[in-house]
Amino acid sequence: MKVFFTTPLKGKPQYQVYIDEIIRIIEVHGATVVSPEKDEQYQQAFTKEKLAEYGDRDRAHYEFIRQGIASADAVVFEASYEDFRVGHEATLSLMYGKPVLVLSQNVDYGRYIYHEKFIGKKYTDKKELRKIIEDFLAAVKALSNKESFQVIHDIVDLQHSATLSKLRYRASQGTTYFADWARRATKEPDVVYREILNKLGDLAIQKPWDVFAKIYNEDTPDSIFYGAVKFVDQVFRAHQVFKSDHVVDVACGTGAISRILTTFGYRNVTAFDRSRAMLSEAYRLSAHMPSIKIMEGDIERVNLEQPAKAMVWYDFSSNFALDERELERWLTNLLKNLAPSGTLIFNVRTKTGWNIDFFKQKVTLYETDRFQRVWINLPDYKKDLITFDIFIRVKDKDGAWLPWEREQMTERMWRLSEIKRVVERLESITIEATLGDDYTPVKGTREPGLTYFVLSKK
Ligand SMILES: C[S@@+](CC[C@H](N)C(=O)[O-])C[C@H]1O[C@@H](n2cnc3c(N)ncnc32)[C@H](O)[C@@H]1O
Repeated sequence: MKVFFTTPLKGKPQYQVYIDEIIRIIEVHGATVVSPEKDEQYQQAFTKEKLAEYGDRDRAHYEFIRQGIASADAVVFEASYEDFRVGHEATLSLMYGKPVLVLSQNVDYGRYIYHEKFIGKKYTDKKELRKIIEDFLAAVKALSNKESFQVIHDIVDLQHSATLSKLRYRASQGTTYFADWARRATKEPDVVYREILNKLGDLAIQKPWDVFAKIYNEDTPDSIFYGAVKFVDQVFRAHQVFKSDHVVDVACGTGAISRILTTFGYRNVTAFDRSRAMLSEAYRLSAHMPSIKIMEGDIERVNLEQPAKAMVWYDFSSNFALDERELERWLTNLLKNLAPSGTLIFNVRTKTGWNIDFFKQKVTLYETDRFQRVWINLPDYKKDLITFDIFIRVKDKDGAWLPWEREQMTERMWRLSEIKRVVERLESITIEATLGDDYTPVKGTREPGLTYFVLSKK
């Protein structure tokens, strides 16, 4: 948990011992304190770059306070000395939705300020101070558990399955050969697969994503990633990644994650991918967010002009690395592009994650107003590889079907132990967290369906 702490400058001579005690109590309870009272952190607010960015020391100070509050889980003030600016900072904290504790030896602000996230307490000695702070931290913890429960319900697979099941139902309606395949696909998948190959099997197989790109954002809309980005934002904040820092969306596809990061306030986002077809959709869909820099790049070779303070490599594209060596090369190059003390979040669909209906069912069909899609899963359990044979057709603007197109792509069905082995071989990193489907730590031999890694570069 991260707690932002501040106090009026003018009150310091009189209240310094209590200020030190407040910080000590918060830290004893395992929380990290961000504060102008922490000299090393505070000096970082006035680097040459920060002064150039914000113009002068007063603005740089304000940004330190504002960003500190924004990235904290809770905010504590020692406000025995009354000060207009600290009053503003408390209001700012409430506007950012942070629980606020205002401590004073003179006034119980709780009597005057009414807000569900505001606690004002008068204290007389250190013992009282400890009890008040302990109660506050416990309340914040309970609240954050409730909020992370919300994240669980937002996870990608759940929302995606709900979206796709609607499209599957729609595909089975009607009298065409497509609806007939959709109705029979579950009961007689091999027969339907043969019929599909008889009708469409002669089509040229195009490059991965060249065909899918046209419908990707309709099949996988931005909204699906909202919960994921909320989690990413929490991790970034816990690792001191500020909204002005350079954040990179790795294998961005059509750019959903970059767009949501931008709505969360990140204003220096670079998105890259190796598929031109996906990138052209990313440009189209992000035209209203010109701060996002979109570029072509391969994970294995990309060489960013500006190192990233944080990287997010999401939506399981690590499964496109087909063996341990390839994954290691990809991660090594990403880390090369990460600034020291930078953060990399990536996720993997691990063994049990391939057990969901979407990948178990051999043939599935989907339909919207604009496209039809046939999805065929061809797993090879000996090699732990799965190939998707995909057929898509879209309507032209007059509503007539364009010809069917076909592409194939192959993914690796990783085991968690294999990924762990690769990650442990990487140099100059710390594994900050290995989390399972519900974003809780993976312990013992548990093999979650989806695994999230948070790495820090030393
Ligand atoms: C499932 S899409 C995910 C897109 C995006 N992250 C999202 O959440 O919508 C996978 C993307 O990974 C990209 N990709 C796979 N391997 C890559 C590599 N080595 N370098 C760059 N992009 C890669 C593909 O081109 C594709 O756009």
